[in-house]
Amino acid sequence: MSPKAGATLADVIADADVLNRAFPVENRASDLKPFLGFQSNLDSPIHRWYNFKEGFGEGLVSWLLANYAPSVGRTFAFLDPFCGVGTSLLAAQRFVAASGFRKARVCGVEVNPYMHFVSSTKLGWHRYDPAFLLRAAAVSTNGMRLRHKPSLPALSTFANEKYIAKSDLRRILDLRDKVQIAAHRRPEVRALLLGLASGAERVFNLRKDGRALRFVLRDRETTVDEEIERSWAEIAEDLQLGLEWAGTPAEIIRGDGRRVDRVFGQRSFDVILFSPPYLNNIDYTEVYKLEQWLLGFLKSPKQMVAQRRRTFQSHPSCLFPEFPDAKHADTIELLGKPFMRLVQYAAEGEPWRERLFAGYFADMHRTLQSCYRLLKPGGRIFLVVGNSVHGDSDRPIPVATDLWVGALARKIGLAVDAILVGREMPRRRIDWNGLRESILVMRRPLA
Ligand SMILES: C[S@@+](CC[C@H](N)C(=O)[O-])C[C@H]1O[C@@H](n2cnc3c(N)ncnc32)[C@H](O)[C@@H]1O
Repeated sequence: MSPKAGATLADVIADADVLNRAFPVENRASDLKPFLGFQSNLDSPIHRWYNFKEGFGEGLVSWLLANYAPSVGRTFAFLDPFCGVGTSLLAAQRFVAASGFRKARVCGVEVNPYMHFVSSTKLGWHRYDPAFLLRAAAVSTNGMRLRHKPSLPALSTFANEKYIAKSDLRRILDLRDKVQIAAHRRPEVRALLLGLASGAERVFNLRKDGRALRFVLRDRETTVDEEIERSWAEIAEDLQLGLEWAGTPAEIIRGDGRRVDRVFGQRSFDVILFSPPYLNNIDYTEVYKLEQWLLGFLKSPKQMVAQRRRTFQSHPSCLFPEFPDAKHADTIELLGKPFMRLVQYAAEGEPWRERLFAGYFADMHRTLQSCYRLLKPGGRIFLVVGNSVHGDSDRPIPVATDLWVGALARKIGLAVDAILVGREMPRRRIDWNGLRESILVMRRPLA
């Protein structure tokens, strides 16, 4: 790789500044900041069924669709290739209901089986009968006896009483098996299991804290049953709303968002909107492991490793395969000398960073290319992403992900109409004003 080593922090920041001037960057923090976390969803029906810390607010999607309306006709096809808990899909359904399209559909892709379960359960809300749900809940909590006691999942965290009392864990597993009997073969079983996962999460003395689960002794006076019943009651309450956006068909596929062209073949979309994992070392397999093991989506450490290896290369928790359709060296070369300088600076003394950075942008490259193939001419891509600072205070490594993604997008033929800065983060350890979350507004030019 050239240029030769010796790049400095000042070089890396200067390169980012040059790139920043090459894009129409707009500060929209006053409009968008409230929507860049999941918090704003916690008062919204259906969205609130599961608190997904790494998600955005539904208001972001509504704002983007309203302010950058694609040049759509009388039909509307929407795709989120990293759909997480389905926030954008629900918001897109709502947009459709308000816009009066003749025909519309919303599609999502998600690799993590638990997130896929959460999003498809939420999007299936119109199939659940609240009265049946509450009856099945009551049967499960009162009186039913199981013929077989549930066995404890083989995750070491569950064996540590510091994290959860054995009796609490047994009760969660007990209710899990009971709702499956009480709502056997009924769609409501999914909503009951989701409520159980949401409630159970509040019982553990573990908090999701960025990259890890951290021990926090909960000051809890409630029982397991009360926490889970609270979640079930919220779900049942939301089901009474008769929300108007039920009509738009939704399809959520468990698959690889980096190659959505393989998932959807010949179909095409008016809008593709997504937030891929940020380059911030968060390993979703680890952070969401409690729910995954409780509900049986993970059963062995081997499955956990395999799941990690299927995810976007945004963390160094495993050795990822290199993909023939986006070799690291090709992506580095495509992004040119400034990117080489960044990688060289980052990898000095820590060679593993070259693999992480190159792997991340190679994944971004594959993702953009496959989205481009599925996008109608004139159609839009909205991509929500965060910049980051790696390394330590002696040697910080700033990564202007939004600008590098913009550069990749232009290389593959997308127009970058705007980079909307939604939130500027306080600068720690470094004199750089690029630490922010942004939305790239892109377009496939008309032929
Ligand atoms: C930042 S979150 C997206 C959150 C989503 N916008 C929401 O509000 O729920 C990124 C998501 O990408 C998923 N993911 C990671 N690698 C993936 C892959 N290869 N294909 C599809 N999804 C993937 C993660 O499991 C996570 O749910």
